[in-house]
Amino acid sequence: MITSKLPNVGTTIFTRMSQLATDTGALNLSQGFPDFNGPQALLDAVGKHIASGHNQYAPMAGLPALRQQVAAKLARSYGVTVNPDSEVTITPGATQAIFCAIQAVIRSGDEVIVFDPCYDSYAPSVALAGGRCVHVQLGLQDFSLDFEQIQAALSPRTRMIILNTPHNPSGALISRAELDQLAELIRHRDIYLISDEVYEHLVFDGVPHVSVLAHEELYQRAFVVSSFGKTYHVTGWKTGYVIAPPALSAELRKVHQYVSFCGVTPLQYALADYMAERPAHVEELPAFYQAKRDLFCDLLASSRFSFTRVAGTYFQLVDYSRIRPDLNDVDMSLWMTREHGVASIPVSVFYQNPPQGQRLVRLCFAKREETLRQAAEKLCVI
Ligand SMILES: Cc1ncc(COP(=O)(O)O)c(C=O)c1O
Repeated sequence: MITSKLPNVGTTIFTRMSQLATDTGALNLSQGFPDFNGPQALLDAVGKHIASGHNQYAPMAGLPALRQQVAAKLARSYGVTVNPDSEVTITPGATQAIFCAIQAVIRSGDEVIVFDPCYDSYAPSVALAGGRCVHVQLGLQDFSLDFEQIQAALSPRTRMIILNTPHNPSGALISRAELDQLAELIRHRDIYLISDEVYEHLVFDGVPHVSVLAHEELYQRAFVVSSFGKTYHVTGWKTGYVIAPPALSAELRKVHQYVSFCGVTPLQYALADYMAERPAHVEELPAFYQAKRDLFCDLLASSRFSFTRVAGTYFQLVDYSRIRPDLNDVDMSLWMTREHGVASIPVSVFYQNPPQGQRLVRLCFAKREETLRQAAEKLCVI
């Protein structure tokens, strides 16, 4: 018998709900991916680069042209200067970037503070490095950081804190004032940060994303992670990047080169071309997704779900207390999928200890207008 290194990990709820949606023919608003294609010019560029022979290993740290485009975008978006050679690393997806950053600095017995509800890859990655996650809950109403709790969770063993802004599943944003407070709290401690910013360009109502990259003090100890999959509507490409100061990037690359060595070559060429041709793509994303959020929320206004429009990401949380308070959120998601044809994700799966009585499910609105209309129609009769 094998003794599992990850005894508590099974098939994720994302896989289960997507499978159930397929089996029952439900609209799949569970897993976070668009049901529309990425920009045609980007898709065409992949074919062009495959045909022209860009099919061998890319440089370990990523194609120089793509790293330069990323640095140029960061300068435009956040006014920061990063060195494409020593601070930008292209990875096969943000999840792999997070895994490599954790392996690079976490040793046996180290503690990592994560904020629940949180993305499901953090805890297993920490466990595989021999570390231990210390779970701190975000505010129940607004999902904000609770500094008293963070302070209480800090110990001499704390080696890392993982932030996620804009936040999956709540859509909450971390403010500059909160980053300042965090900087003060860890100033004299030997603590690294991962800032998971895969939804960096999905922010609404004119409120800008505050990147850890633009916080000079915190950046000195940070791995800032993003995903081309989210930004260019191509989640299946599993291509992301991590920005870190040279010394941290060097350690991260030591891991990355033995996990995968490099990202997929023709995808990197295509992304570099497209970023050079259409720098406006990222500037147009907030309006593009805000229109989807607003359409979906307007349509849900006459439903019995209650909700506050999200500030970022492509997920909308909805409270079903008025509909089936008797069901926990996993049963509610299953019931909604089977009986009402809309698949969602129960929020409790993002917690180590879900708050008692929380009645929230997450719906992904990265969908065509037609899908959102059909889903809202079904949700309004529940
Ligand atoms: C918070 C968060 N981080 C990371 C990822 C993973 O990004 P990628 O598909 O590039 O690995 C996701 C995807 O759902 C996410 O929601």
